[in-house]
Amino acid sequence: MTRKILVTSALPYANGSIHLGHLVEYIQTDIWVRFQKMQENLIHYVCADDTHGTPIMLRAEKEKVTPEALIEKVHKEHLSDFVDFNIEFDNYYSTNSEENRELSESIYNSLKSNGKISIRTIEQFYDPVKSMFLPDRFIKGECPKCHAKDQYGDSCEVCGATYNPTELINPFSAVSGATPIRKDTEHFFFKLSECSEFLRFWTRSGTLQPEAANKMSEWLGDADENKLSDWDISRDAPYFGFQIPDAPGKFFYVWLDAPIGYMASFKNLAKRHSLNFDEYWGKGSATELYHFIGKDILYFHALFWPATLEFSGYRTPTKIFAHGFLTVNGEKMSKSRGTFITARSYLEHVKNPEYLRYYYAAKLNGSMEDIDLNLEDFVARVNSDLVGKYINIASRTAGFLTKYFEGKILGIDLNDQVYKATRSSLTSSGDIASCYESRDYAKALREIMKVTDYVNEYVNDMAPWVLAKDPDQHHSGSKLHAVCSDALKAFRILTIYLSPVLPEISRKVSVLFGESGSYLWSSLMESPNRISNYSHLITRIDPKLIESMVEANKESLTNSPNTKIENQPSVANPISELINIDDFMKVDLRVAKILSAEHVEGAEKLLKLVLDIGEPNTRQVFAGIKSSYDPESLVDRLTVMVANLAPRKMKFGLSEGMVLAASDESGGPYILSPDAGALPGMRIK
Ligand code: MSP
Ligand code: ZN
Repeated sequence: MTRKILVTSALPYANGSIHLGHLVEYIQTDIWVRFQKMQENLIHYVCADDTHGTPIMLRAEKEKVTPEALIEKVHKEHLSDFVDFNIEFDNYYSTNSEENRELSESIYNSLKSNGKISIRTIEQFYDPVKSMFLPDRFIKGECPKCHAKDQYGDSCEVCGATYNPTELINPFSAVSGATPIRKDTEHFFFKLSECSEFLRFWTRSGTLQPEAANKMSEWLGDADENKLSDWDISRDAPYFGFQIPDAPGKFFYVWLDAPIGYMASFKNLAKRHSLNFDEYWGKGSATELYHFIGKDILYFHALFWPATLEFSGYRTPTKIFAHGFLTVNGEKMSKSRGTFITARSYLEHVKNPEYLRYYYAAKLNGSMEDIDLNLEDFVARVNSDLVGKYINIASRTAGFLTKYFEGKILGIDLNDQVYKATRSSLTSSGDIASCYESRDYAKALREIMKVTDYVNEYVNDMAPWVLAKDPDQHHSGSKLHAVCSDALKAFRILTIYLSPVLPEISRKVSVLFGESGSYLWSSLMESPNRISNYSHLITRIDPKLIESMVEANKESLTNSPNTKIENQPSVANPISELINIDDFMKVDLRVAKILSAEHVEGAEKLLKLVLDIGEPNTRQVFAGIKSSYDPESLVDRLTVMVANLAPRKMKFGLSEGMVLAASDESGGPYILSPDAGALPGMRIK
């Protein structure tokens, strides 16, 4: 029976470019949607740009354009990135649409008439210079816990503490620099605290992956402890978003109207394709509804969203499919390392989007685990699996069919060894279709590659290039003809299996077999009878392309206004990974007085220092500062040393600590000096 399915991917923010992290999601969803289309299910895949909120408003202001002009420009960019990665949305819309405004208003009105909206006065930070209330992320100040400076209003990146922005010490507005004042304001709340019972039921009814359901249980707590607080759904003007009906100066918080954007995008599609909106979104709808999302936005999709739908009279999602985060070479994507790679930059350098689709598919298994893009492994894997194994089958056999047999492929024969093998993997243990269905693409590809290896071995063993040397083999029905036909029929089956992942290659192969168009799962039952002139379908990735891509993404840091700049002071010198205060406190830094400094025989860079750190005994330290300091000039100076570094035996003697000095490509080392008043032995913390 044909299933009726509606699928979404999360709506990317309109204030940044699509990057390889985003693509984990859109590629994962697209593969699933294409698989369902091949199964001849009725499926629609909708998405949109998430356009509202303060960051977009401020960015537009900075670029001296209207928010509408900005989001229109970004929409075009996003859409062309997706199209070029062969991501096939049925509609790619915008949350700043009339459909979304109407739906948001009517959902809000329903929540209100169901008694689920309350109004409360809260105290918030207000920027008196910009005349606006400040979102947490736009307030900075000193962490109330560890006193690190320049921390965001909601959490400290140094000690990891979370707090209210009003707890910050010496807060300032990240927009104007002004000291914010506290000001009362009325906010609208969705009474989530009254939805616990429903949510406890909903999150445990098979709608979530087990890991996600566990997370939700944590957030929801037990039936007797209501852990949910009401959700603040309003923001004060100036704000780029939708006005709340009958509430002048109040706007819907972006996260209220964003998921409604799924409905709005579908509504817009429904109008054009005469689909019945209620059949998809009405209460009791039998249509399957799936949201693909990253694990970072699970809270919004598994709590706020189903509650919003439930209490405004709509159906709730059938399932939420959450995935993990992308790391590149084992680390968080980083602009300084050049691994914060935009979709466009990948296309410019590597070009073929299907390599990335293949690599991600090979790593995705339907769980919430993070996935790593190891760039070396990416090149190796694509070159060996796709080019070396899969394409190799066609490139070693197709030419003989066109050269000697006018492209004719022999019909299915009982002796077709590899064709049969590829066909039987359909029903084998690894049943490829159910792997796709359960989003375990990694397993699907492992199964497919297993058969691919087998077909390749067969081609090796049969060595058609050896057979072809014998003119007796050049007549129709010869062994050469049979071997190449068998291998190509197998190749076609493998292509059909790979179609959800490699739609472009699949389309080219179908044209090669004169079938022109897209394969369906039922195409497995058919058999081709000819092949046209084969030309190379794909080529190896040159590792140099990867190098230049990484280089290019390093450079773009300083001159790309288009991407959010990370909090990093220097491009060449990225800040190390976070440590907590305990890690830091392990390092015992002391004020040290330099009693003597001298050259070391035979050492190019070192000076030998004798230091007083307030202990009965002095310390001897070898410091690599000879290039910057005349030893005499150092005597009697105060500086800073690591006093608890394990002593190290050097060629010239024992070094009992380390003196701190600053340097980079532009100069140094420069040793540190404490301010006047510091005494030898004082602890630095
Ligand atoms: N605008 C919200 C979603 C609203 S949905 C109603 C948002 N946008 S986003 O641009 O930050 O992210 C869009 C999707 O991409 C999210 O599902 C997010 O988890 C995913 N990813 C963004 N960076 C990612 C990685 N580095 N790795 C994997 N997925 C990532 O959130
Ligand atoms: Zn802190």
